Amino acid sequence: MRNRKSHEGLALLALASSAILLLSSASNSQDAIAGRLKAKPCSICHGSDGIAVAANAPNLAGENATYIEAQLKAFRSGKRKHHQMSIIAASLSDADIINLARWYSLIKVVATTPDLD
Ligand code: HEC
Repeated sequence: MRNRKSHEGLALLALASSAILLLSSASNSQDAIAGRLKAKPCSICHGSDGIAVAANAPNLAGENATYIEAQLKAFRSGKRKHHQMSIIAASLSDADIINLARWYSLIKVVATTPDLD
């Protein structure tokens, strides 16, 4: 009896955590959709797929969201300075930054190391 109760408890816990996972993945994709829209002007330099088209701009595709967020916040606060990015980041809200970071981090990148012998 005691055992059955704890099994039921575990099943409930599993159900609750999968519901939380589902909800958070739904909000992740909402963030990414908003980020894709916000990233339109960024594509001039960073490419529409996050692979940079400007020679001095880094690729953002597949970059870790935590890293992107930290860099955008650093540009915004003035901790990191760049004549273009500092101006661009100045008008981004916290939500914009989260959404942009989510969008770029979800772009899949395949890396192939060079065949050197
Ligand atoms: C006019 C060109 C241009 C545009 C538009 C632009 N960027 Fe950049 N971005 C750059 C350059 C150049 C750098 C490299 C800065 C440096 O050398 O420190 C950079 C750096 C970054 C970095 C740091 C990446 C790293 O590897 O450290 C992030 C994140 C970033 N940009 C995001 C964005 C986002 C998001 C937008 C749009 C809201 C955007 N950028 C628009 C040119 C641009």
